[in-house]
Amino acid sequence: MKHYSIAIDGPAGAGKSTIAKSIAKKLGYIYVDTGAMYRAMALYFIQNNVDINNADQMEEACKKVDVSIEYQNGEQLVILNGENVNGLIRTEQVGNMASLSSVNKSVRLKLVQLQQNLANKENVIMDGRDIGTYVLPNADLKIYLTASTKERAKRRWMELSQKGIACDIDEIEKDIIDRDYRDTTRDFAPLRQAEDAILVDSSNMTIDEVIQSIIEYFNKRV
Ligand code: DC
Repeated sequence: MKHYSIAIDGPAGAGKSTIAKSIAKKLGYIYVDTGAMYRAMALYFIQNNVDINNADQMEEACKKVDVSIEYQNGEQLVILNGENVNGLIRTEQVGNMASLSSVNKSVRLKLVQLQQNLANKENVIMDGRDIGTYVLPNADLKIYLTASTKERAKRRWMELSQKGIACDIDEIEKDIIDRDYRDTTRDFAPLRQAEDAILVDSSNMTIDEVIQSIIEYFNKRV
């Protein structure tokens, strides 16, 4: 039986997860947040003081770490060595470590396998950095979702401020620029727009407008 897949790639803070989650609900698809998997691995490296610049240590650590995902009421839970780590992976520290450690090939190959297995079994909407270019090259629809660095920093600042977390918008923008640079320039499966992906710039769009436009593209394709 054919399973449909939608790939959404783009830089940090473009709104991928909010949008993919909502589309998954509307279409009855499974939402796969691949960034959360890289974050879970990053958490393991932090907790176990793994030197991410040491290739041997990284290879050893990748053998010991087990990441899987489960769904509870439609929400993705990331399980790291048997423990649900959803509540621990959304910090800036883990995000930055995920960006740094995801350049490692052992890390990527391990998670790509998991992601491809999921897409073989279910209709999925998967977001990340290399979904359209590497993980699901035959996805039925590929979207490259982006927004200006200023707009992305503003959104992140608002999100953190609403949670009562003190932060500096210029620092956030600098972090975003650094992370974009690392994600787009790494050797293996870097972030880039797939040739057959549709570019959606959400800088001046509401969340609903982005969701609507992606569903229209999907209906035209499938
Ligand atoms: O989407 P996010 O911010 O949760 O992702 C955290 C980091 O994980 C991101 O900076 C790069 C890495 N990542 C990746 O390399 N490939 C993916 N498919 C998803 C995330």
